[in-house]
Amino acid sequence: MTTAQATISEDGFPTNFTMDRNFALEAVRVTEAAALAASHWIGKGKEKEADQVAVNAMRDALNGLTINGTVVIGEGERDKAPMLYIGEKVGTGQGPSIDIALDPLEGTTICATGGPNSLAVVAMAEKGGFLHAPDVYMDKIAVGGGLPDGVVSLDASIEENLKNLAKAKQCDISDLMVMILERDRHEELIAKTREAGARIQLISDGDVAGVIATSEPDTGVDMYVGIGGAPEGVLAAAALRCIGGQMQGKLLFKDDEQRERATRMGVSDLNKIYSLTELAKGDVMFAATGVTNGSMLDGVKRWQGGASTHSIIMRSKTGTVRTIRAKHNFKRKTWVDNEG
Ligand code: FBP
Repeated sequence: MTTAQATISEDGFPTNFTMDRNFALEAVRVTEAAALAASHWIGKGKEKEADQVAVNAMRDALNGLTINGTVVIGEGERDKAPMLYIGEKVGTGQGPSIDIALDPLEGTTICATGGPNSLAVVAMAEKGGFLHAPDVYMDKIAVGGGLPDGVVSLDASIEENLKNLAKAKQCDISDLMVMILERDRHEELIAKTREAGARIQLISDGDVAGVIATSEPDTGVDMYVGIGGAPEGVLAAAALRCIGGQMQGKLLFKDDEQRERATRMGVSDLNKIYSLTELAKGDVMFAATGVTNGSMLDGVKRWQGGASTHSIIMRSKTGTVRTIRAKHNFKRKTWVDNEG
């Protein structure tokens, strides 16, 4: 599946393997399987059930891959998550050693309510490629590609960031669209963004899609900012590494227990602002399949005996972004978890 080959990735990370091109297709099968399973539960108000079938399906699909995979961003720690927990080995155990960041159902509430932008997501990198982020919050800021380095920063105020971004994009602040998770903790951020004159698109959930939206000109989103999950931050960074864009993330801890957990997971500086390539470095691959319709991907459509999926697969090494539409025939593909 892979070709051993010592090389330096574009972010200066020495990489000893290159992922075989065909591997991209394998990764899409993994996210397709999770999305198909979760799609059975769209709009049924059952978050746990939707998540569980997606986890089962993704785990089965991953275990069919010829890799020696380790989950580094997963469903939680071993004692809290029975499957796809951090540290779990996946794949056949043969083939390359790969670190895996995953979220079988990103946006469980969105799926349960039939809202936009729930995804099945997996990202892969060689050993040490991903920040081992604990399940805490992360302060995030992201913009799309083609802008001067450091145009936005977590060290700067929202007003400064908007001013700098508008200048770089040669537009007025009032032309900028900022995406923010609708949460009480963002009350001040939202007020200041509005006072500065920018427009805001509030989302109920799903900040992986939110961050990626900054790199997709069609979405009209110029900046993503605010506090969301740290694991989702690493997944979004993996995508931006491939598609282009800038992002910073800072882990936020609510108590000493969370700080100790992070330290145990190898985080040495608890106040560090991570750059994009510190969140996801080296040769990174990112795949996602839409569960519900979204800005980037259509959701799963089901009919008697089949379903269609819409997926994206991208890779940092080449910058190639592929979208794949697939039709699945459940009469032949009997192993697909079609019943949820
Ligand atoms: P889940 O898929 O785990 O439900 O996460 C959805 C999500 O909206 C993420 O996209 C985001 O990073 C996080 O939740 C925000 O957390 P919270 O809901 O606690 O504000």
